[in-house]
Amino acid sequence: MSDGTACGKIILFGEHAVVYGRPALAVPLSQLRARATVEARVEDGIVIRARDLGREIWLLNSELDDALATITQLTLDKLGVTGNLEINVTSEIPVASGFGSGAAISTAIVRALADYFEKSLTAEEISGLVYETEKLYHGTPSGIDNTVIAYEQAIRFVRRPTGEGEITPFQVAQPFLLLIANTGIASPTKITVGDVRSGWEKDAMAFEKIFYAVGAIVNEAQVALAAGENEKLGDLMRRNQSELKAMGVSSPEIERLLEAGLDAGAFGGKLSGGGRGGNVIFHVAEENAEPVKRAVLEAGAVQVIVTTVGG
Ligand code: PMV
Repeated sequence: MSDGTACGKIILFGEHAVVYGRPALAVPLSQLRARATVEARVEDGIVIRARDLGREIWLLNSELDDALATITQLTLDKLGVTGNLEINVTSEIPVASGFGSGAAISTAIVRALADYFEKSLTAEEISGLVYETEKLYHGTPSGIDNTVIAYEQAIRFVRRPTGEGEITPFQVAQPFLLLIANTGIASPTKITVGDVRSGWEKDAMAFEKIFYAVGAIVNEAQVALAAGENEKLGDLMRRNQSELKAMGVSSPEIERLLEAGLDAGAFGGKLSGGGRGGNVIFHVAEENAEPVKRAVLEAGAVQVIVTTVGG
């Protein structure tokens, strides 16, 4: 049996402003993983089983827009191979939470197939294959998820007016602890992105000022991360959060979790992703992780993940 794994991802700084040409930073969550195994079948055919998702897909019968079938077929074509195969997929990455679970599952499948056929693919090739399936999940994906996950590296991302992204990997010099608290509120990114767009259409000057401030925060954060100056992250998160609040994408639930976490000793925190729900992230010291976790759970978080970024 062969296997492959892939990490999740999270946006650290710059969401929303990134839609308006400002930079954003995203990092891999290496301790949160999807896994795929590949083994030979005696009978004919290729079957993909994703028990966590309650799905069983036969390659020949699958819909053309099925992402698991698509990544399998694309990978087999790329490797120039075929066979009678059983692929099993498991994942500890929460779905639809801004963690890139779709890209992680696809990446795990690509790696497991390459391993099974004893072929090697570069991170760039894997990222390119996964980008094709991201189109099925997201329509016009930014390319953040497949890049962070295939390279398993922090990236700076800038979306050009033409639509394509300029992606620059960088090193996080010193590992740090991130506590991720889920509000339990599903908030489609499409809606908050649309609301920010309406706000910008009504008062472009005010919103451009906010986006400018976010761009400056992102640049400072990248310099700090690359220099190992992690003591600056908390303040940068607080500043980014106040700009997100000014954009109108925070919510009482997010603010409640932030207040609880900061009162319990987190260095700083902010929402991550689209906002109005989803996740709140905190930079915490090791000795503060437990008290911050307890405080945000008491304040209504439905799930807390404590994970190391970098290193
Ligand atoms: O929730 P995520 O991690 O997919 O991030 C959404 C980020 C936004 O800037 C709000 C939207 C976008 O397409 O960049």
